[in-house]
Amino acid sequence: MEVLETGKLPNHVAIIMDGNGRWARQRGLPRIEGHIKGLDSVREIITVTRRIGIPYLTLYAFSKENWSRPKDEVQRLLELLGLYLEKELPLMMENDIRFNVIGRTSDFPKRLVRQLNDVMTKTKRHRSLLLNIALSYSGRQEILDAVKAIIKDVKLGKVKRIDEKRFSTYLYTGGIPDPDLLIRTSGEMRVSNFLLWQIAYSEIYITPVLWPDFREEAYFEALREYAIRDRRFGGLKEV
Ligand code: IPE
Ligand code: IPE
Ligand code: MG
Repeated sequence: MEVLETGKLPNHVAIIMDGNGRWARQRGLPRIEGHIKGLDSVREIITVTRRIGIPYLTLYAFSKENWSRPKDEVQRLLELLGLYLEKELPLMMENDIRFNVIGRTSDFPKRLVRQLNDVMTKTKRHRSLLLNIALSYSGRQEILDAVKAIIKDVKLGKVKRIDEKRFSTYLYTGGIPDPDLLIRTSGEMRVSNFLLWQIAYSEIYITPVLWPDFREEAYFEALREYAIRDRRFGGLKEV
């Protein structure tokens, strides 16, 4: 299929979509223009992921730490998210894409929370692609929330033994397999509090390409690189 070997496609791709501000600055535009342009990449990457049959995609769209940005940028980002949901619901309906949010959405304005819940409900029976969007997300917070929830269930007698498998069901991503491939655009060599538990054995791919420029070809480059990686999970290389 196309230029990719289907057998070696990742099952779950997670992406830190970074570099919108720099993309805009390089063109002498306000940062928000980078975010707007970045939405075209979001649409393209979702469409390609669905087309080539990768069943899980997680996109880091807004971190808990991003609340510390100037009020105006945060407000515009939230507005964009609302508009995006309105515009892209048909794409999800037509392509059997299930929409899911991970993160503390209760931090968002009520209207947006309603909109997010509405899209999750409308798409909940879709099975071809699970699209996870990380919003107001923090990996450390997610682990703490899981610890609190599991303690509660231990006290109620619902949980007797805590092991990795059981613990991971308490994360926001409970039931979703760990990412095989973690992509970060714009060249920063850090994980910025994203999926700290889940990326324990993910292959990491960092590209200097800024998010608004990250389209099908750049994505395929990442997938081709993934296909030739040797995943050992601590074992020995096969001979
Ligand atoms: C990523 O682009 C989008 C969000 C974090 C919301 P940035 O806004 O971080 O862009 P840079 O890193 O400043 O270029
Ligand atoms: C990470 O990007 C968060 C998202 C892509 C949503 P940031 O731009 O916020 O991360 P830092 O500040 O470079 O670590
Ligand atoms: Mg950034």
